[in-house]
Amino acid sequence: MTDLDTLERDLLGQIETASDEAALEAVRVSALGKKGSVSELLKTLGAMTPDERKERGPLINGLRDRVTTALGSRREALQGAALEARLASERIDVTLPLREAPEASGRIHPISQVIDEITAIFADLGFSVAEGPDIETDEYNFTALNFPEGHPAREMHDTFFLAPDHLGRRKVLRTHTSPVQIRTMRSVEPPIRVIIPGRTYRHDSDQTHTPMFHQVEGLVIDRQANIANLKWVLENFCRAFFEVESVGMRFRPSFFPFTEPSAEVDIQCTRKGGEIRFGEGTDWLEVLGCGMVHPNVLKNCGLDPDQFQGFAFGMGIDRLAMLKYGMPDLRPFFEADVRWIEHYGFRPLDVPSLVGGLTA
Ligand code: DAH
Repeated sequence: MTDLDTLERDLLGQIETASDEAALEAVRVSALGKKGSVSELLKTLGAMTPDERKERGPLINGLRDRVTTALGSRREALQGAALEARLASERIDVTLPLREAPEASGRIHPISQVIDEITAIFADLGFSVAEGPDIETDEYNFTALNFPEGHPAREMHDTFFLAPDHLGRRKVLRTHTSPVQIRTMRSVEPPIRVIIPGRTYRHDSDQTHTPMFHQVEGLVIDRQANIANLKWVLENFCRAFFEVESVGMRFRPSFFPFTEPSAEVDIQCTRKGGEIRFGEGTDWLEVLGCGMVHPNVLKNCGLDPDQFQGFAFGMGIDRLAMLKYGMPDLRPFFEADVRWIEHYGFRPLDVPSLVGGLTA
């Protein structure tokens, strides 16, 4: 066996066993690169006599051609195998059930959803949203709202008091969203049209009461805002919120220190088979408190009651959510149980709007 035969067998063996394209390229460089074994042989042709060249030329060139061909076919085979492997690894079983995208798998809490629904309805009526702190002074939570010192209405609120400061004054966890009425009237010129959703706190706990709960307050102050406007706004709200054509409403005289006259509002409903439905039936359900803003409250905010008047209303968001979505118990709202939120929660991309439908 000649040297050429040995070299050829050696090179073809290396080509055959090259396991990837990088290894194959190394073999090519070692044979056909500038200093490669075959290239070196080709260089020797120049120094040969014509007779020698005639004999050796075809042998060396033949060797180069066969090595080149073998490299080419091995490269093709390796590329084919690499493609196969990639296809196999990227294979998708289209029969598998669809996995929810992360942005679609979270859930919106019913309270957040109901706040968004309420906001959408009132925004459509030209109301903006106002907010205030959860920790309030006695002045904002009670005094400015026309609760006189020692008035029994203060006791009825089951207030949580904070430790007294160095002057002996005790802040409170706000017992209602009404203090934000004061904050708004003291900082914004009428006309005012706001809703105030937020957390409120009272020392109370059972199936329908939790120490922390949510209210939404409404406030309209203008030169002529009157009771007829109040009734229209509330009726529109109830129809839109409960998504019914019409809903009977009953205004019962009531008392709140910050409104005069005051009323509690019941809406028409029917309770059949443990289910409650609105806009029909002969039963009544209390949903909110309201009234004309008391002149003392206007004065406490620097507004002249002979120039300005207005109305206010307040309702429990948690209760509205329970009624609308048929949830019997309030406590799970705050237990952070994923099974509950998966069942009662809302899809993040179902943003309530009057155009798209509140609960589309
Ligand atoms: N702040 C009252 C409460 O928590 C609710 C309320 C009643 C608010 C009548 C109002 C209103 O604005 O006019 O019990």
